[in-house]
Amino acid sequence: EKGNYPHFMLKEIFEQPETIENAIRGRINYEMGTAILNGLGFSPCELAQISRIVIAACGSSMHAGMVAEYYFEDIAGISTSVEQAAEFRYRNPIIEPNTLVIPISQSGETADTIAAVREAVGKGAYISALCNVVGSTIAREAGRGVYLHAGPEISVASTKAFSSQVAVLLLMALLLGRNRRLSRSEGCELVREIEQTPELIRSVLAQAEEIRAIAKRYAGFDDFFYIGRGCLYPTALEGALKLKEISYVHAEGYHAAELKHGPISLLDERHPVLALANDIPGRDKILGNIQECRARRAPVVAVATAGDREVENLTDDVIFIPHCSRFIAPLPTTVALQLFAYYIAVERGCEIDQPRNLAKSVTVE
Ligand code: M6R
Repeated sequence: EKGNYPHFMLKEIFEQPETIENAIRGRINYEMGTAILNGLGFSPCELAQISRIVIAACGSSMHAGMVAEYYFEDIAGISTSVEQAAEFRYRNPIIEPNTLVIPISQSGETADTIAAVREAVGKGAYISALCNVVGSTIAREAGRGVYLHAGPEISVASTKAFSSQVAVLLLMALLLGRNRRLSRSEGCELVREIEQTPELIRSVLAQAEEIRAIAKRYAGFDDFFYIGRGCLYPTALEGALKLKEISYVHAEGYHAAELKHGPISLLDERHPVLALANDIPGRDKILGNIQECRARRAPVVAVATAGDREVENLTDDVIFIPHCSRFIAPLPTTVALQLFAYYIAVERGCEIDQPRNLAKSVTVE
């Protein structure tokens, strides 16, 4: 039930400190600075053999996979690619020996992701699924995997499932990293960062009213751009998806470097830009991109690290996030973008939990 919340989406956004706690509970070995993911189903020896990871998913789950691409490559040193599940299924993909396929699906019932699982099983890949719904088709057919333990997600717009996916994928990268090049002290450091995530998210939730006030000022616009770099690039895609899904406003997520390759021609005072300018590698370049947007008179809302006066002075509005590492930054940033999308939809009088034309799980192609 919704309790005191007007919509399931808002309730689920506010549940995220707990759902992240649930996703990591019992899954950390503090002593060794690594993760314990028994469901993953691989022996240390098998884990060590994995030489490539392919993630297959759709929508928000695919965005979580795109964040994880940075984790697996950076933390574990394993070459990773993310496939739209429909593309994976129809392209006759090359699955080399020792490839791990990770299907990601909240519902475990998405038709294209199920088909991708069957393709991967047929090609003899290692496979380990990430699902929220226990006993779902993907969980059963993959045979092994990790559950999110996020509880039922009712709102069509995925919020808590997305953040739990990112958290569990980070644990997977930690495990694979410790199985390879990541030292124990680096592992312990990452564990400390992961454990701070619920608190970071709480501090974003505590700013809901401020984010609402910003959203009010932008609720009249019909076109938005979201830009980011590194892990915050897929975060920008996810933020834009949230906005278009529930508020019927046109929003596009771009890698900030892509602006100059086309979309910047659209920018003017009617196209606000959400710039993810957290203090992680790439921030300085984003500052340059913000200036380029300002020069075209586009209003800029930034997400930035608390105390970053430089970003504040460059932009019209800022949502501040406490300092955190580049691996963790997508989580509190996403929560800020979820709230921004939610309050714009509220202002526009949209239905929110059941947006038109959308189903919670897409069981047909
Ligand atoms: O159940 P799944 O995770 O497989 O669903 C995938 C997408 O349909 C889903 O994430 C969709 O994009 C959401 N409505 C986004 O909020």
